[in-house]
Amino acid sequence: MATQPRAREQWGTRAGFLMAAIGSAIGLGNIWRFPSEAYKNGGGAFLLPYLIALLTAGLPLLILEYTIGRRYRKSPPAAYRRMSGPAQVIGWWQVAICFVIATYYAVILAWAVRYVGFSVGEQWGDDPDAFFFGDFLRAAEQPGWISSYVGGVFWPLVLIWIAVLAILALGVRRGIEVANKIFIPLLVVFFAALVIRAVTLEGAATGLNALFTPDWGALTQGSVWVAAYGQIFFSLSIGFGIMITYASYLRRRADLTGSALVAGFANSSFEILAGIGVFATLGFLSVSSGTPVEETVTSGIGLAFVAFPAVISSMPLGGLFGVLFFGSLVIAGLTSLISIVEVVVAAVQDRTGIGRVPVVLGVGGLVALVSILVYPTDGGLYLLDAADHFINQYGIALAALVALIVVVWVLRKLPVLQKDADATSAIRLGAWWRVALGVVTPLVLGWMMIDSLRTEFDENYAGYSTGFVFWAGWAVALGALAFGVLASLIPWKRDAELVGVEPEAAPDAPVEGKH
Ligand code: ALA
Repeated sequence: MATQPRAREQWGTRAGFLMAAIGSAIGLGNIWRFPSEAYKNGGGAFLLPYLIALLTAGLPLLILEYTIGRRYRKSPPAAYRRMSGPAQVIGWWQVAICFVIATYYAVILAWAVRYVGFSVGEQWGDDPDAFFFGDFLRAAEQPGWISSYVGGVFWPLVLIWIAVLAILALGVRRGIEVANKIFIPLLVVFFAALVIRAVTLEGAATGLNALFTPDWGALTQGSVWVAAYGQIFFSLSIGFGIMITYASYLRRRADLTGSALVAGFANSSFEILAGIGVFATLGFLSVSSGTPVEETVTSGIGLAFVAFPAVISSMPLGGLFGVLFFGSLVIAGLTSLISIVEVVVAAVQDRTGIGRVPVVLGVGGLVALVSILVYPTDGGLYLLDAADHFINQYGIALAALVALIVVVWVLRKLPVLQKDADATSAIRLGAWWRVALGVVTPLVLGWMMIDSLRTEFDENYAGYSTGFVFWAGWAVALGALAFGVLASLIPWKRDAELVGVEPEAAPDAPVEGKH
């Protein structure tokens, strides 16, 4: 077994790292989640809590994750372990969260791949809703156990997994970096064409008015603030352990703060642009069908796979618009999926010292297998919904809260991490960074937890009376935490711990200036 210490892989260039970080951030969350979240939570007024969330939690956490990754040069379990043995629970918990997210995230990409094809000739016919849930997904009437398989989802899903595992097997520089350098510019071109077409559609102004007319009253509702922080977390890929992993491949003198600002603002700009594109399009649908805009807005899945096909059918050259829209979803999602699976791969590599290719095939293959076995089925849609809701609420956000309490308050690592980031960054971190991470974000996350637990038990998530989704969701969320605890109980071998550690990356040695 290859347990010899070897140099850790590194990004080829700063631009390569930035592209990968931006590629991870820009994903399904930007294109379909943001527009409907913004609309539901005060329209134009949502931008205020959203920006506050970006500044008080998003950017500070992004900088923290970059700093942890670069300082300890490890994926989350080993990085946290180097801070303090028991803290590795958080890292393994994040690995399990990424495992779960990857299994269903890939499925949505598989749907989008199929819809690129369906767009040509608008194959959903007159009833996109019946086509999507019935003809295409063959979803069961009620949530429950899996009883049949759906070939139409299976094949594109296999294709997605082959692409992701092949890119990961090529490594950080030759695989992830090159893929992002190709996909991100392509995404910008696709998306620019899409947004330009959208805002020039008849009725675009109606949609944009609906999105940007502020409902200031919404700002007094706690749930709007919770939604804004939730959106920033998902969208920036923080709390997943992804940014710790990506930053562990940085050179020791890389600028951290500047990179976080570039990645954070690039992600938010893309997100707001996506809001403009989606709402301009819904404005067109509203005007051409005589339906008020509010009735055209649905949450993620309905928006992309039901409302958009309806629009595509009613516009000139709709097929091309469909290819651009679903193509953008595929590209944006693919770069995020790569980053999510990389957390699992890197964690196992750091833990065992086994080479990348066998780990990608073995562990990445396991993620793919679970994804392929569970979701292209009649019960897949409900399981996807359950996994998505519960792992976001009680996985990402809760793990981020625990990580902050442990790093800031228990281990008191902020001063040393701040010194580390400042030593190589053009913009120095001030007291705001410590206040944001030590006080503001934990309070908001704590409030989010209480608020969503209350809603969960008061309203029975999504109103599923059978409780199947409710219990499946809890099983997944608690299972991830249980995995974190169990995995951290297995003793580490000293040699495995040392794989990829270079002399200057000793656990708690501060970085002394640029060198
Ligand atoms: N940040 C990724 C997204 O927005 C996970 O989809």
